[in-house]
Amino acid sequence: MVYPSAIIHRLAFLVPIFNTHKMSNPVNTIINETQNPISDPDFAAQSKHALDTTGVLVLKNFLSRDALQSIKTDGINNKDKAYYTSSTHNVYLAPNDNQFDDQHPRNRAVTSSKGCITTDQIPSESLLHSLYKDNALKSFLCAVLNENALYEYADNLSSINLHYASHGQELGWHFDNSSFAITLLIEKPDDGGIFEFVKDARDADNNNMNYELVEQVLNKQVDVSQLDMHPGDLVLFRGRNSMHRVTPTIGNTTRMLVVLAYNTEPGVSLSESARQTFYGRLS
Ligand SMILES: [Fe+2]
Repeated sequence: MVYPSAIIHRLAFLVPIFNTHKMSNPVNTIINETQNPISDPDFAAQSKHALDTTGVLVLKNFLSRDALQSIKTDGINNKDKAYYTSSTHNVYLAPNDNQFDDQHPRNRAVTSSKGCITTDQIPSESLLHSLYKDNALKSFLCAVLNENALYEYADNLSSINLHYASHGQELGWHFDNSSFAITLLIEKPDDGGIFEFVKDARDADNNNMNYELVEQVLNKQVDVSQLDMHPGDLVLFRGRNSMHRVTPTIGNTTRMLVVLAYNTEPGVSLSESARQTFYGRLS
Protein backbone atom coordinates (compact mmCIF):
# COMPACT_ATOMS: atom_id res chain seq x y z
CA MET A 1 0.00 0.00 0.00
CA VAL A 2 1.22 3.47 -0.86
CA TYR A 3 0.65 6.13 1.80
CA PRO A 4 0.28 9.78 0.86
CA SER A 5 3.44 11.56 1.90
CA ALA A 6 1.55 13.84 4.31
CA ILE A 7 0.33 10.84 6.32
CA ILE A 8 3.80 9.29 6.40
CA HIS A 9 5.14 12.58 7.65
CA ARG A 10 2.56 12.66 10.43
CA LEU A 11 3.16 9.05 11.44
CA ALA A 12 6.90 9.65 11.61
CA PHE A 13 6.20 12.63 13.82
CA LEU A 14 3.91 10.74 16.16
CA VAL A 15 5.94 7.59 16.78
CA PRO A 16 8.72 9.17 18.85
CA ILE A 17 6.15 11.05 20.94
CA PHE A 18 4.32 7.85 21.85
CA ASN A 19 7.59 6.09 22.65
CA THR A 20 8.74 8.87 24.93
CA HIS A 21 5.39 8.98 26.65
CA LYS A 22 5.43 5.27 27.33
CA MET A 23 8.97 5.07 28.58
CA SER A 24 9.38 7.98 30.94
CA ASN A 25 6.02 9.27 32.24
CA PRO A 26 7.01 12.83 31.34
CA VAL A 27 6.06 15.05 34.18
CA ASN A 28 4.28 17.46 31.85
CA THR A 29 1.46 14.91 31.65
CA ILE A 30 1.31 14.71 35.46
CA ILE A 31 1.24 18.43 36.25
CA ASN A 32 -1.50 20.63 34.82
CA GLU A 33 0.97 23.15 33.43
CA THR A 34 -1.70 25.14 31.63
CA GLN A 35 -2.98 26.31 34.98
CA ASN A 36 0.32 25.95 36.84
CA PRO A 37 3.24 26.88 34.52
CA ILE A 38 5.97 25.92 36.98
CA SER A 39 8.80 26.70 34.54
CA ASP A 40 7.62 30.30 34.08
CA PRO A 41 9.73 32.58 36.33
CA ASP A 42 6.82 35.01 36.74
CA PHE A 43 4.57 32.23 38.00
CA ALA A 44 7.28 31.14 40.46
CA ALA A 45 7.70 34.73 41.67
CA GLN A 46 3.95 35.18 42.19
CA SER A 47 3.80 31.87 44.05
CA LYS A 48 6.72 32.87 46.29
CA HIS A 49 5.06 36.18 47.05
CA ALA A 50 1.82 34.44 48.03
CA LEU A 51 3.65 32.00 50.32
CA ASP A 52 5.78 34.73 51.91
CA THR A 53 2.74 36.93 52.52
CA THR A 54 0.23 34.42 53.80
CA GLY A 55 2.33 31.45 54.96
CA VAL A 56 0.43 29.14 52.65
CA LEU A 57 0.21 28.52 48.90
CA VAL A 58 -2.57 26.52 47.26
CA LEU A 59 -2.02 25.68 43.60
CA LYS A 60 -5.42 24.61 42.34
CA ASN A 61 -5.69 21.61 40.01
CA PHE A 62 -1.94 21.09 40.14
CA LEU A 63 -2.28 17.47 39.04
CA SER A 64 -3.78 16.66 35.66
CA ARG A 65 -7.09 14.85 35.84
CA ASP A 66 -5.53 11.59 34.65
CA ALA A 67 -2.64 11.83 37.11
CA LEU A 68 -5.01 12.46 40.01
CA GLN A 69 -7.06 9.41 39.06
CA SER A 70 -3.93 7.28 38.69
CA ILE A 71 -2.52 8.31 42.09
CA LYS A 72 -5.92 7.81 43.70
CA THR A 73 -5.96 4.26 42.32
CA ASP A 74 -2.46 3.68 43.76
CA GLY A 75 -3.77 4.87 47.12
CA ILE A 76 -6.84 2.66 47.10
CA ASN A 77 -4.89 -0.40 45.92
CA ASN A 78 -2.27 -0.08 48.65
CA LYS A 79 -4.40 1.02 51.58
CA ASP A 80 -4.13 -2.42 53.18
CA LYS A 81 -0.36 -1.86 53.61
CA ALA A 82 -0.83 1.25 55.74
CA TYR A 83 0.64 1.45 59.23
CA TYR A 84 -1.81 3.09 61.63
CA THR A 85 -0.81 5.14 64.62
CA SER A 86 -2.77 6.90 67.30
CA SER A 87 -0.90 9.05 69.74
CA THR A 88 -1.25 11.96 72.08
CA HIS A 89 1.18 14.84 71.98
CA ASN A 90 1.34 18.49 72.95
CA VAL A 91 1.09 21.37 70.50
CA TYR A 92 4.86 21.90 70.58
CA LEU A 93 5.69 18.26 69.70
CA ALA A 94 8.18 18.24 72.55
CA PRO A 95 8.43 16.33 75.85
CA ASN A 96 6.22 17.89 78.53
CA ASP A 97 7.71 20.70 80.59
CA ASN A 98 7.42 19.95 84.31
CA GLN A 99 7.24 23.65 85.15
CA PHE A 100 3.62 23.53 83.98
CA ASP A 101 0.69 21.29 84.83
CA ASP A 102 -0.90 18.87 82.37
CA GLN A 103 -3.67 21.30 81.39
CA HIS A 104 -1.32 24.18 80.65
CA PRO A 105 -1.15 24.86 76.87
CA ARG A 106 2.53 23.88 76.96
CA ASN A 107 1.59 20.34 77.98
CA ARG A 108 -2.07 19.90 77.03
CA ALA A 109 -2.50 16.54 75.24
CA VAL A 110 -4.11 16.43 71.79
CA THR A 111 -4.68 13.35 69.64
CA SER A 112 -3.39 12.40 66.20
CA SER A 113 -4.44 9.22 64.41
CA LYS A 114 -3.82 8.20 60.83
CA GLY A 115 -2.44 5.52 58.52
CA CYS A 116 0.43 5.90 56.10
CA ILE A 117 2.32 4.07 53.36
CA THR A 118 5.94 4.89 52.66
CA THR A 119 8.17 5.53 49.63
CA ASP A 120 9.09 1.86 49.28
CA GLN A 121 5.41 0.79 49.41
CA ILE A 122 4.30 3.13 46.62
CA PRO A 123 4.39 1.08 43.39
CA SER A 124 7.57 1.72 41.37
CA GLU A 125 5.49 2.68 38.31
CA SER A 126 3.42 5.22 40.30
CA LEU A 127 3.45 8.74 38.92
CA LEU A 128 4.33 9.92 42.43
CA HIS A 129 7.92 8.75 41.99
CA SER A 130 8.27 10.62 38.66
CA LEU A 131 6.73 13.73 40.17
CA TYR A 132 8.89 13.64 43.31
CA LYS A 133 12.14 13.34 41.31
CA ASP A 134 11.27 15.84 38.61
CA ASN A 135 13.92 18.53 38.28
CA ALA A 136 11.53 21.18 36.95
CA LEU A 137 9.29 20.71 40.01
CA LYS A 138 12.27 20.82 42.36
CA SER A 139 13.52 24.03 40.72
CA PHE A 140 10.10 25.59 41.13
CA LEU A 141 9.89 24.52 44.78
CA CYS A 142 13.39 25.89 45.46
CA ALA A 143 12.40 29.24 43.97
CA VAL A 144 9.16 29.42 45.95
CA LEU A 145 10.65 28.20 49.23
CA ASN A 146 13.84 30.23 48.83
CA GLU A 147 16.05 27.15 49.14
CA ASN A 148 19.22 26.41 47.16
CA ALA A 149 18.48 22.73 46.60
CA LEU A 150 16.11 19.98 47.69
CA TYR A 151 17.21 16.39 48.28
CA GLU A 152 15.40 13.12 48.85
CA TYR A 153 15.67 11.38 52.22
CA ALA A 154 18.53 8.90 52.51
CA ASP A 155 16.23 6.28 54.02
CA ASN A 156 13.76 4.36 51.85
CA LEU A 157 10.62 5.34 53.82
CA SER A 158 10.38 9.07 54.34
CA SER A 159 10.48 10.87 50.97
CA ILE A 160 6.94 10.13 49.75
CA ASN A 161 4.20 9.29 52.25
CA LEU A 162 0.58 8.68 51.40
CA HIS A 163 -1.63 9.34 54.42
CA TYR A 164 -5.07 7.87 55.07
CA ALA A 165 -7.59 9.30 57.54
CA SER A 166 -10.77 7.26 57.95
CA HIS A 167 -13.86 8.25 59.92
CA GLY A 168 -12.85 9.78 63.26
CA GLN A 169 -9.14 10.07 62.44
CA GLU A 170 -7.52 13.47 62.76
CA LEU A 171 -4.29 15.41 63.14
CA GLY A 172 -4.23 17.34 66.42
CA TRP A 173 -3.14 20.96 66.82
CA HIS A 174 0.63 21.39 66.55
CA PHE A 175 3.55 23.40 65.25
CA ASP A 176 5.92 21.72 62.78
CA ASN A 177 9.58 21.23 63.50
CA SER A 178 10.38 21.71 59.81
CA SER A 179 10.05 25.07 58.07
CA PHE A 180 7.85 23.89 55.19
CA ALA A 181 5.52 21.08 54.14
CA ILE A 182 4.52 20.07 50.60
CA THR A 183 1.29 18.13 50.19
CA LEU A 184 -1.11 16.95 47.50
CA LEU A 185 -4.71 16.26 48.43
CA ILE A 186 -5.86 13.12 46.62
CA GLU A 187 -9.26 12.37 48.13
CA LYS A 188 -11.55 14.57 50.19
CA PRO A 189 -13.85 12.96 52.75
CA ASP A 190 -17.64 13.41 52.76
CA ASP A 191 -17.24 15.81 55.68
CA GLY A 192 -14.55 16.93 58.12
CA GLY A 193 -10.86 16.56 57.26
CA ILE A 194 -10.51 20.34 57.13
CA PHE A 195 -7.08 21.94 57.42
CA GLU A 196 -7.26 24.73 60.02
CA PHE A 197 -4.48 27.09 61.03
CA VAL A 198 -3.56 30.19 62.99
CA LYS A 199 -0.82 32.12 61.24
CA ASP A 200 2.22 33.18 63.29
CA ALA A 201 0.78 31.91 66.56
CA ARG A 202 4.31 31.75 68.00
CA ASP A 203 7.82 32.99 67.26
CA ALA A 204 10.08 29.97 67.71
CA ASP A 205 13.29 31.76 66.77
CA ASN A 206 12.76 34.29 69.56
CA ASN A 207 11.50 31.61 71.95
CA ASN A 208 8.08 33.24 72.22
CA MET A 209 5.73 30.28 72.68
CA ASN A 210 2.62 32.49 73.06
CA TYR A 211 0.84 30.22 75.54
CA GLU A 212 -2.05 32.66 75.83
CA LEU A 213 -3.05 32.40 72.16
CA VAL A 214 -2.37 28.66 72.02
CA GLU A 215 -4.70 28.18 74.99
CA GLN A 216 -7.40 30.26 73.30
CA VAL A 217 -7.12 28.13 70.15
CA LEU A 218 -7.31 24.90 72.15
CA ASN A 219 -10.35 26.25 74.03
CA LYS A 220 -12.01 27.30 70.73
CA GLN A 221 -12.11 30.92 71.90
CA VAL A 222 -10.67 32.43 68.72
CA ASP A 223 -11.53 32.17 65.05
CA VAL A 224 -9.15 30.06 63.02
CA SER A 225 -8.46 30.04 59.27
CA GLN A 226 -9.61 27.14 57.12
CA LEU A 227 -7.90 26.13 53.92
CA ASP A 228 -10.08 25.50 50.90
CA MET A 229 -8.36 22.56 49.25
CA HIS A 230 -9.61 20.04 46.74
CA PRO A 231 -8.28 16.81 45.23
CA GLY A 232 -5.42 17.56 42.85
CA ASP A 233 -4.35 20.75 44.66
CA LEU A 234 -0.73 21.23 45.75
CA VAL A 235 -0.34 22.98 49.09
CA LEU A 236 2.85 24.51 50.47
CA PHE A 237 2.62 25.47 54.11
CA ARG A 238 4.99 27.05 56.57
CA GLY A 239 4.02 25.42 59.87
CA ARG A 240 6.91 26.18 62.19
CA ASN A 241 5.18 29.20 63.69
CA SER A 242 1.65 28.68 62.37
CA MET A 243 -0.38 26.36 64.58
CA HIS A 244 -2.42 23.90 62.52
CA ARG A 245 -4.54 20.78 62.57
CA VAL A 246 -6.76 18.58 60.38
CA THR A 247 -10.24 18.06 61.81
CA PRO A 248 -11.59 14.49 62.16
CA THR A 249 -12.76 12.80 58.99
CA ILE A 250 -16.52 12.24 58.93
CA GLY A 251 -18.12 9.54 56.78
CA ASN A 252 -17.09 6.51 54.80
CA THR A 253 -14.75 8.21 52.30
CA THR A 254 -11.15 8.06 53.49
CA ARG A 255 -9.17 11.28 53.22
CA MET A 256 -5.99 10.66 51.19
CA LEU A 257 -3.09 13.09 51.21
CA VAL A 258 0.43 12.79 49.79
CA VAL A 259 3.34 14.40 51.60
CA LEU A 260 6.38 15.12 49.42
CA ALA A 261 9.25 15.45 51.91
CA TYR A 262 12.59 16.94 50.92
CA ASN A 263 15.74 17.88 52.79
CA THR A 264 17.82 20.96 52.20
CA GLU A 265 21.00 18.90 52.70
CA PRO A 266 21.94 15.61 50.98
CA GLY A 267 22.29 12.26 52.76
CA VAL A 268 19.83 12.97 55.60
CA SER A 269 17.60 10.24 57.03
CA LEU A 270 14.56 10.77 59.21
CA SER A 271 15.55 9.97 62.80
CA GLU A 272 15.14 6.35 63.91
CA SER A 273 12.70 7.36 66.66
CA ALA A 274 10.50 9.23 64.18
CA ARG A 275 10.55 6.34 61.70
CA GLN A 276 9.63 3.91 64.45
CA THR A 277 6.78 6.17 65.60
CA PHE A 278 5.35 7.03 62.18
CA TYR A 279 6.02 3.82 60.23
CA GLY A 280 6.50 1.12 62.89
CA ARG A 281 9.83 0.11 61.31
CA LEU A 282 13.20 1.53 60.33
CA SER A 283 13.51 0.25 56.76
FE1 LIG B 1 2.17 19.78 60.57
